[in-house]
Amino acid sequence: MASFTSFPAFLVTLSLLLCAAALASAQLSSTFYNTSCPNTLSIIQSAVKSAVSKERRMAASLLRIHFHDCFVQGCDGSVLLDDTSSFTGEKTAAPNNNSLRGFDVVDDIKSKLESSCQQVVSCADILAVAARDAVVALGGPSWTVQLGRRDSTTASFSSANSDIPSPAFNLTDLITAFSNKGLSTSDMVALSGAHTIGQARCTNFRTRIHNETNINSSFASSLRSNCPSSGGDDDSLAPLDAATPTAFDSFYYKNLVSNKGLLHSDQQLYGGGSTDSQVSSYTSKNSKFFADFGSAMVKMGNISPLTGSSGEIRTNCRKTN
Ligand code: HEM
Ligand SMILES: *[C@@H]1O[C@H](CO)[C@@H](O)[C@H](O)[C@H]1NC(C)=O
Ligand SMILES: *[C@@H]1O[C@H](CO)[C@@H](O)[C@H](O)[C@H]1NC(C)=O
Ligand SMILES: *[C@@H]1O[C@H](CO)[C@@H](O)[C@H](O)[C@H]1NC(C)=O
Ligand SMILES: *[C@@H]1O[C@H](CO)[C@@H](O)[C@H](O)[C@H]1NC(C)=O
Ligand SMILES: *[C@@H]1O[C@H](CO)[C@@H](O)[C@H](O)[C@H]1NC(C)=O
Repeated sequence: MASFTSFPAFLVTLSLLLCAAALASAQLSSTFYNTSCPNTLSIIQSAVKSAVSKERRMAASLLRIHFHDCFVQGCDGSVLLDDTSSFTGEKTAAPNNNSLRGFDVVDDIKSKLESSCQQVVSCADILAVAARDAVVALGGPSWTVQLGRRDSTTASFSSANSDIPSPAFNLTDLITAFSNKGLSTSDMVALSGAHTIGQARCTNFRTRIHNETNINSSFASSLRSNCPSSGGDDDSLAPLDAATPTAFDSFYYKNLVSNKGLLHSDQQLYGGGSTDSQVSSYTSKNSKFFADFGSAMVKMGNISPLTGSSGEIRTNCRKTN
């Protein structure tokens, strides 16, 4: 423990600590729109419910947009910007091109919010709330979403290519990619449980099902007809969790223990590495996975938000004002 030679020195240290705590939580608050736009949460929730009832996969797509937003310049809505003459946006970067979806649902939510309260609720916050509501809609955990993020006036094609982890990554690469964003290995393992829902394209699992050995052979062969080693459709889809593709549960981890991870990066979390014990623990304890997932989503949602007078509140999520 530090000892203080004087009371003023103690006060300076205390205020530095309080400042650091304020910066770490970046001034987001769960009641941010309570007076300025009290229907924010109910508007987003009903739009997400309605989109998911039309197409269950939309829940996965909305969850993923928030992740791809937060890993590029922080959670600032940058992923939603269309290309302009002054910058190329993130939508055509390798991890997103022909892959990220759900932008029309976000536009619909934004226009409902604009009708209710003009230029109050940010696109970045819409993504954070929609991600939570999407998980809840498929039977997953709920958590309190921190609010008050503002929207960027720029996007970064190059950071989207460099900062979003690749499905070809090994465990070391995955740990580094999350650590670069202030997230721990344990957050990374919990957040990867998002792959309990949604779909991936053949181009992202072809090598795994044709050339890897740490894969259940009947699982691999069942996927090969729609994703041949050559000449097939790069975009043909397979569920990330073949057991329960539209339920948010812990089957993702059970699959890993049976060598049925769809992506190379998924299977890296189990099979002789440092994260095996956490994966195993989630197979038997759904509630532990749910609690850890919610806390890790809050941490992810706190990556470098724009607050105060930084950035802006866009009126259209696809364009700066
Ligand atoms: C750990 C590193 C991660 C890697 C390497 C990774 C990679 C991928 C890839 C390659 C796809 C399939 C895309 C396609 O083929 O079009 C995918 C889908 C998906 N990812 Fe991840 N991901 C990771 C972490 C996460 C996290 C942290 C989340 C959310 C918290 C997430 C949510 C999703 C969802 C929900 C889908 C399905 C989307 C849909 O069906 O539209 N992923 N991911
Ligand atoms: C903010 O609104 C929520 C939801 O309506 C309510 O539960 C909460 O008590 C409110 N908090 C404050 C500080 O007004
Ligand atoms: C994105 O995909 C389209 C359609 O497949 C392709 O024409 C385009 O070159 C891709 N963009 C980038 C930047 O790779
Ligand atoms: C992981 O992949 C990187 C290249 O992306 C490589 O340098 C490293 O040696 C690999 N680590 C392990 C443990 O295989
Ligand atoms: C499998 O590995 C072989 C030998 O390295 C390579 O020629 C082939 O392209 C790979 N196939 C796939 C689908 O990755
Ligand atoms: C692979 O999965 C199949 C189907 O679930 C199962 O019957 C089989 O025992 C598994 N193979 C191995 C080697 O675990």
